[in-house]
Amino acid sequence: MASSPSAAGPATVISPNNPGSPSSPKNPESAGNPGSPEGAGNPPENPVAPGANTGEASAAYENIGIAVDDGLDSDGLYEHSHGTDTTSLSSGVFDYQYENGRRYHAYREGRYVMPNDEKEQDRLDMTHHMYLILLAGVLVVAPVENPQQILDVGTGTGIWAIDVADQFPSAVVIGTDLSPIQPSWVPPNCKFQVDDAENDWSFPRDSFDLIHSRHLMTSIRDWPKYIGQIYNAVKPGGWVQMVEHDFVLASDDNSLAPDSALRHWFDLYHTAMDNMGLPSLSHKVSEMLEEAGFTEVSQKVYGLPWGPWAKDKKLKEIGAWMLANSETSFEAYGLAFLTRVLDKSPEEAKDLCDRAHKELRSKRVHVYNSHYFVIGRKPLET
Ligand SMILES: C[S@@+](CC[C@H](N)C(=O)[O-])C[C@H]1O[C@@H](n2cnc3c(N)ncnc32)[C@H](O)[C@@H]1O
Repeated sequence: MASSPSAAGPATVISPNNPGSPSSPKNPESAGNPGSPEGAGNPPENPVAPGANTGEASAAYENIGIAVDDGLDSDGLYEHSHGTDTTSLSSGVFDYQYENGRRYHAYREGRYVMPNDEKEQDRLDMTHHMYLILLAGVLVVAPVENPQQILDVGTGTGIWAIDVADQFPSAVVIGTDLSPIQPSWVPPNCKFQVDDAENDWSFPRDSFDLIHSRHLMTSIRDWPKYIGQIYNAVKPGGWVQMVEHDFVLASDDNSLAPDSALRHWFDLYHTAMDNMGLPSLSHKVSEMLEEAGFTEVSQKVYGLPWGPWAKDKKLKEIGAWMLANSETSFEAYGLAFLTRVLDKSPEEAKDLCDRAHKELRSKRVHVYNSHYFVIGRKPLET
């Protein structure tokens, strides 16, 4: 549960975003051994399972505020991390769109504003890795037993679906996405298909033991409809697992200047989200699951630092990955928003992204955002 905020007082919250996410991410600065959740302590076997936080959905903050490592040299910038550069389909889905040096999806062109190129795929895989550190390797926090059918909506590189297919060899795991960017060498029980989650779903009612949805806040416009379709497709007694992060940066020690480029970037991001009809509802996912009819809704919220400044060893490692992720996240989230939606020139957009990222690399800046892990169960009798 929440530890007390640092001596500097309550968190200052600014408007903002999060970086968003890889199987074998490249080495971020000072991140230690990516494979080992060293210092991760002994998290619960099931970090969100009912019992840990039962009853009505509640915002159970795990670690906010976050103590700054007082042994840190707080001058200068963090070094850049390196190496972020790391299909029954019709040909049209591969007619990718290129814009300002990035590649975007072709199917339902323009619906989703983030790139799908290798740089972005590395970022997505990096986020997956970071969550594995956070949850000590747990992929499925919902207490599913012997699942046979699992769906991962907006699967991205398919990394979660592939890992889950390995974990449950007797289950069929389907990953859907607008972009056919998933690998072809996958476990035999893992399949991918191009599909628009905002369309009416063709999956039969009561099909899946588990539906997973992660980081779709910049994708889905009508959340009640989306969650309603998930509810229909889950089997009675089956589970939904949703992971979203908010777009609000907090700083317990007021280490973010009021006139910062970071703040400006997040303000513009919110304006663009509004203009595109994309609501910021991460903090309301649990409520929306209950409204759709899910029961046993349970939520955990983790504050994750953007940089390796936390005293806690695991958060320090996660912060290093978050910082590495930010190498490309400002442009991944921001370029299309700023140019397509807010009419900035590519140069202005890149300049703002660079300045925001540079501020984040300052060792004096201690900001974090909230990540919501929410599960819910479809009642046996519906
Ligand atoms: C931020 S990524 C998250 C990927 C993956 N869930 C993960 O956690 O690694 C969002 C993904 O959703 C996909 N997406 C966006 N809008 C979608 C839609 N309407 N239907 C299906 N997929 C969508 C994007 O192509 C992208 O791969």
